Amino acid sequence: MMDIKKTSKLENVGYDIRGPVADEAAKMRAKGIAIISLNTGNPANFGFFAPQSIEDALIANIKSSEAYSDSRGIPAAIEAIRAYSTGKGIAGLSDEDIYTGNGVSELINISLQALLENGDEILIPTPDYPLWTSVATLCGGKVVHYICDEENEWLPDIADIRKKVSPRTKAIVLINPNNPTGALYSKDVLLDVLQIAREHNLIVFADEIYDRLVMDGEEHIAAASLAPDLFVVTFNGLSKSHMVAGFRCGWMCLSGDRKRAADYIEGIQMLASMRLCANVPAQSVICAALDDPYSAAPLLRPGGRIYEQRECIYNAIKEIPGLSSVKPKAAFYLFPKIDAEKYHIRDDEQFVLDFLHEHHVLMTHGKGFNWPRADHFRIVYLPAVPELMRIAERMRAFLRTYTQ
Ligand SMILES: Cc1ncc(COP(=O)(O)O)c(C=O)c1O
Repeated sequence: MMDIKKTSKLENVGYDIRGPVADEAAKMRAKGIAIISLNTGNPANFGFFAPQSIEDALIANIKSSEAYSDSRGIPAAIEAIRAYSTGKGIAGLSDEDIYTGNGVSELINISLQALLENGDEILIPTPDYPLWTSVATLCGGKVVHYICDEENEWLPDIADIRKKVSPRTKAIVLINPNNPTGALYSKDVLLDVLQIAREHNLIVFADEIYDRLVMDGEEHIAAASLAPDLFVVTFNGLSKSHMVAGFRCGWMCLSGDRKRAADYIEGIQMLASMRLCANVPAQSVICAALDDPYSAAPLLRPGGRIYEQRECIYNAIKEIPGLSSVKPKAAFYLFPKIDAEKYHIRDDEQFVLDFLHEHHVLMTHGKGFNWPRADHFRIVYLPAVPELMRIAERMRAFLRTYTQ
């Protein structure tokens, strides 16, 4: 009998955050080895819990959440998302412009599936949250990575974007605040990117899922608020800001020139209808969550857990010979650089695998974020400070003798 094979469409698709190194960690765990999992940004695994108002809303609405909803979402959730997004300066939104999804992840799938023809180009940052690259590739798109510059606080390199636009470019993805770097983009940077989109008729996909997890008194600016003339799709959700990643609760807002995008929007509507609707119990908490959108704010101030954990890991990592990093301003990720020459590192996946075997900490290598060189890795700094200090100590001990 013939072997059952996966589709060739998956040939260049990867998702290393839950890839081979995570598989190896699962095998080690099955043998009884305790592993610290720092591969996913999964707050509830580290003692971060949803506000009580979310639990109350879920319980209060569970009975009325048994039916499928409209494919865009339940009216109360749509209204709350519209009000929140309008409050962020995204102008002219009506209820028809909003779609709820089973996490932002599902909406990334829908928005790219509805758009890309084979060979269409899409500009995606490197490093990126790799789902964007994976889904674009699966849809037949040609991903063109533009550089975010570590020497410039990991901001998008505007000249590099300009160089990489071609007649086949359909869209540009902005991940702000950024995963894996924790960068937050200024108004000027956003305006520069938007101007390129304007000049080349590009759709802007703005992934802003970390917009409520910003530190140091900085403020997040929604890209769509700066470009009411452009067609922008803004993605957001509750996985990170309200610590309910398991609920699978996200949304997207379509703003700007919807007339030009009428056919594309028809495609989005069709795909949203085909999956019937997003998880209704999760939709039923959106109202309560967006009544208190900044419930995580105390965690982000001095004395708050996320703030103190960032200080701890950033300071500890920069003291380790051969490691350096840009201080993140948002989210809960650090993307340190390794002196690859010093440690003769040729394979960054091997680097994180060796660290896993020796010190039982699971992390993701830089190439897992489509970074082109074997000289970075990502730390999810969700563990409490004492645990982070132990992890940093293990990294210091590991690098004392490590070489490839
Ligand atoms: C930048 C970014 N976008 C989207 C997602 C997916 O989020 P969701 O849980 O809403 O599917 C993540 C998850 O880590 C992310 O980091």
